Amino acid sequence: MDRDAVYNLAKQLMERSCAQPGRERGYILHHGLRVAREAIDLNRCLKLRADEDLLWAAGLFHDSGKGLEPHWISSKALVLEHLAPLADSEEALDRIAYLVRYHAKRSDPALLTTELKLLQDADILDHRGCMQIWLAVGGAVSDGRDPEQIAAEWDGQQRRQRRAQFRDMLHFDESKRRFDERLARETAFYNAVKAEISGQ
Ligand SMILES: [Fe+2]
Repeated sequence: MDRDAVYNLAKQLMERSCAQPGRERGYILHHGLRVAREAIDLNRCLKLRADEDLLWAAGLFHDSGKGLEPHWISSKALVLEHLAPLADSEEALDRIAYLVRYHAKRSDPALLTTELKLLQDADILDHRGCMQIWLAVGGAVSDGRDPEQIAAEWDGQQRRQRRAQFRDMLHFDESKRRFDERLARETAFYNAVKAEISGQ
């Protein structure tokens, strides 16, 4: 598969998109690229020998239909409509479409393949660390909320539970290690915000 061509296609389709309010123009492309790279990096780190062409294409396109929900269905439709000329075979196209269709379905072990596990973990990881801070601060500024509010929200019971749930959904110990590393960056950031607000 010509990965540059797949990326260029993703760019054409998504770089001007503003499908998610409060996020930067092209967020779906930027997120997709990070997820594709993270999934490939995890694959190499864990020596899983997953098909990296599939991870690249599915990573880039997994949220392409965001804004038209359920987005796993609309994203799959976009894959089938646009990626056919770039896929190595009909089977490869079907496997990309499968990953995109089930990227958010973590509750059914029968659906899981090595590629799907990597994609799902990479997707969770991209919402942690600097990217969590980026989205939280960007969203707060556009809604008129202040730093104290985002720090308090981040620290709240609901968010803590949600973070624990997402951590539990990760398939690999290495993903959990990366999650914890990113969470430590968030903790340092929000602690610093709280300290500065209180005059320390
Ligand atoms: Fe995603």
